[in-house]
Amino acid sequence: MADNHKKIVVLTSGGDAPGMNAALRAVVRVGCYYGADVFGCLGGYQGLIDGDIFQLFPDSVANIIQRGGTMLKTGRCHPFYEKSVRADCIKFLKKSAINHIVVIGGDGSFRGASLLHEEGGLHVIGIPATIDNDIHGTEYTLGFDTATNTALEAIDKIRDTASSHDRHFLVEVMGRRTGFLAVDVGIAGGAEFILTPEFPIPTEEIIEKIARRKRQKRSTTIVVAEASSKPGRSVEIAEELRQHGDFDFKVCILGHTQRGGCPTVFDRKVASQMGQLAVNALLEDKSNLMTARIKGELTLAPFPDIGIDSRRLTDHDLLELDKILAI
Ligand code: F6P
Repeated sequence: MADNHKKIVVLTSGGDAPGMNAALRAVVRVGCYYGADVFGCLGGYQGLIDGDIFQLFPDSVANIIQRGGTMLKTGRCHPFYEKSVRADCIKFLKKSAINHIVVIGGDGSFRGASLLHEEGGLHVIGIPATIDNDIHGTEYTLGFDTATNTALEAIDKIRDTASSHDRHFLVEVMGRRTGFLAVDVGIAGGAEFILTPEFPIPTEEIIEKIARRKRQKRSTTIVVAEASSKPGRSVEIAEELRQHGDFDFKVCILGHTQRGGCPTVFDRKVASQMGQLAVNALLEDKSNLMTARIKGELTLAPFPDIGIDSRRLTDHDLLELDKILAI
């Protein structure tokens, strides 16, 4: 009789996101519940290169559901782009009789997972985790709810001082390629303007709209997606607003505070459900899929196509709504 005793390795890869630990905990406990051996890989794909894996048991993941970050560490592993490096990893896994992998991370991490499937015949399931919420094929990625609430807390605090001094603020949130964080936080925070990579607003338009209001001596909050691999574009925007509109904008860059913190109920729940879904898929020898939220339901979906722009794009209607709401 075929030995269907599964050995599963789980790793976290790419930018960390609140909820990764909750997903890891579910993968370990559901896997062990069904009699599989579950192993953790330290430091994402680099851990596969270094052979840095260790067995995990139900009590190994005690007391982590409430913690942000990832107990397995994570990172972006450029050597893994090399096919020869991946071949060594595949050899290592097969030698360890491990043929099933759960990758918790973003679309870059899923590209690596898909290659392990294609090049090594390994069974891989991805769990989408990035605070950017911009993986094509799923409405939700772990960490987004927590990150938006972290950013909103900061914006509410800024609004207190802005309204007390009738001051203008630019608040920069994360979101290298898309504006999901900026849009949700901007609407919830009552921002007068939301600047996203997908739908930029010319500075002249901002100046003209504020000028119309300047007579009421009001404060202004503009939420800006960083829209690049490094933070700080809000400083340039503040300079343009000063030069061309004679407005003094303070700048607050929230940066990596959005990546940490205790995951919300929603992130813990979805992470636990996705962990269970991923393990069940592997036990049925499914592969090359990711857990996904589609029309509110959790299901399995194909990875985003390698090589195309795998981003989901911000909803322009929400930006139009904000223009109406933010008088
Ligand atoms: O991809 C998630 C993310 O937080 C982006 O929003 C941000 O631009 C990027 O990671 C920052 O990457 P790093 O943590 O490597 O500086």
